[in-house]
Amino acid sequence: MNTRRRTGSRRIVVVGSGIAGLYAAALAAEDPDGHQVTLVTKGALAQSNTWFAQGGITAVTGQGEAAGDSVGAHVADTLRAGAEMNDDDAVRLLCAAAGAEIDTLLRWGVPFDRKGTLLALGLEGAHSAARILHAGGDRTGAAIAEVLINRVMSLAGAGRMELREHSFVTRLLESGGRITGVELFGAPDGDVRTQLPADVVVLATGGAGQLYEATTNPDTATGDGVALAWAAGAVLTDLEFIQFHPTLLDPAAANGTAFMISEAVRGEGALLVDSTGHRFMPDYHPDAELAPRDVVSRAICRQRLLLGSRGEAPDVYLDATGISRVKGPDFLARRFPTIHHTVTALGLDWNTQPLPVVPASHYWMGGIRTDLDGRTSVPGLFAVGEAACAGVHGANRLASNSLLEGLVFARRAVRALAAGKTPVFEALPLELSEGTTHCTRADLQQLVSSAAGVARDGATLELAAKQLGEWTVEPADQAGAEDANLLATARLVVAAARARENSVGAHYRTDFEARPAGSGRLSFVNSRAGGPGNSASQEQP
Ligand code: SIN
Repeated sequence: MNTRRRTGSRRIVVVGSGIAGLYAAALAAEDPDGHQVTLVTKGALAQSNTWFAQGGITAVTGQGEAAGDSVGAHVADTLRAGAEMNDDDAVRLLCAAAGAEIDTLLRWGVPFDRKGTLLALGLEGAHSAARILHAGGDRTGAAIAEVLINRVMSLAGAGRMELREHSFVTRLLESGGRITGVELFGAPDGDVRTQLPADVVVLATGGAGQLYEATTNPDTATGDGVALAWAAGAVLTDLEFIQFHPTLLDPAAANGTAFMISEAVRGEGALLVDSTGHRFMPDYHPDAELAPRDVVSRAICRQRLLLGSRGEAPDVYLDATGISRVKGPDFLARRFPTIHHTVTALGLDWNTQPLPVVPASHYWMGGIRTDLDGRTSVPGLFAVGEAACAGVHGANRLASNSLLEGLVFARRAVRALAAGKTPVFEALPLELSEGTTHCTRADLQQLVSSAAGVARDGATLELAAKQLGEWTVEPADQAGAEDANLLATARLVVAAARARENSVGAHYRTDFEARPAGSGRLSFVNSRAGGPGNSASQEQP
């Protein structure tokens, strides 16, 4: 690796290899300041949630504007989907920067789908216009990740950055009131814990979908960055806002496989029907199947309960058969090749049969609180992507805004690495207790699914908090450390869901259905962390 240091050059460790981590690492390595960049990831570079993103990436480009769409409309849709709990400035930055980030991806070689010479634009829930770019039909995340991985590999090949795959970060190192690196184990040193010094650590570790029994996320989504930041005393925010994707192919009908059916399928015209054949979404929202995702997931859960109470089978289906009838029998296979291949391999013919679906945990709107440049409340610590929370998504993320967020805020963080003031966020001090009874990942998933799912209530959350306080996990190896991170994030989600005594966006409390006026965002800081982050701790007014 190149060891030259220029003025402004920093030793940067990026943790995580989803879109935000790959992009941050590539941009930092290419920065004229000549940063020394190490990208650390716990699996292979391609093992990330980004890889599974089907629908696409939202952007109002010049082409969209020429067709009547606008950045202002994207902003308005993002705020409406987020129940206006978003940070307005973050949303405006996100939407305004989209066109330029797409230009970069096109220049770097991402093969976005086209209709003739124009970019093909899809529609998804809560968008007022077709503005979702996709690649390979429904393998947008994989297509982007491939290009970014090639880029970081060639930068590494040229000695401009270092890659450490299969390396698990166990702790953030602190000294003199700031983060000074990471402790990790794994390749190339095996189980021996080693320390990697850094001037700046960027956490891009993704979410914690594995908190739930039903999830669209891979096994690696274990809340690692949030748990590391919590231990270091960083302020966390919006933790109660977890998005459930409405249409996971029901694992019971798919040999236990967890496979998401993209919202873009509803954008093409697929309907949600129940076991009696009734199309129920118009009963719940004027935008029916294209209502915001939290609304659709809640409606599915309610319809299942309603069916059960009437003695009907409590099943819900995604019916794409009308699309084939109107657009031809080859359309679904062409537009959604990955989904078509998967459902066909499972023996399902979605041209002629509706697919059984269930809501599943998908995306964590909350996370490590950052300013608009990815800075956390801890000096030397940045966070980007799903692990971070700049407030872009509010209480419910607009579909296909997350890949975009990864790009926009990774770029902003890289620009801010060398300078700037550590932000101070107001936060409630919170103490989480550690128990002595061993728990498994399955125990955790069962508890969190039943207490902090699509609908929550105070009594169940209180019992869950008590149970979580009695549990422990021994972080002896990577699997144990991941489960320990999940246990910590479960405690945080449950604490936040208990504290928010109203219903807004993806947080729905059956004991507090109406949203009282004036409720703000909830932030917490670890009152036990001795590290640099604790100076930011103060009561929220
Ligand atoms: C999907 O394709 O439905 C997922 C897209 C997203 O979560 O933004």
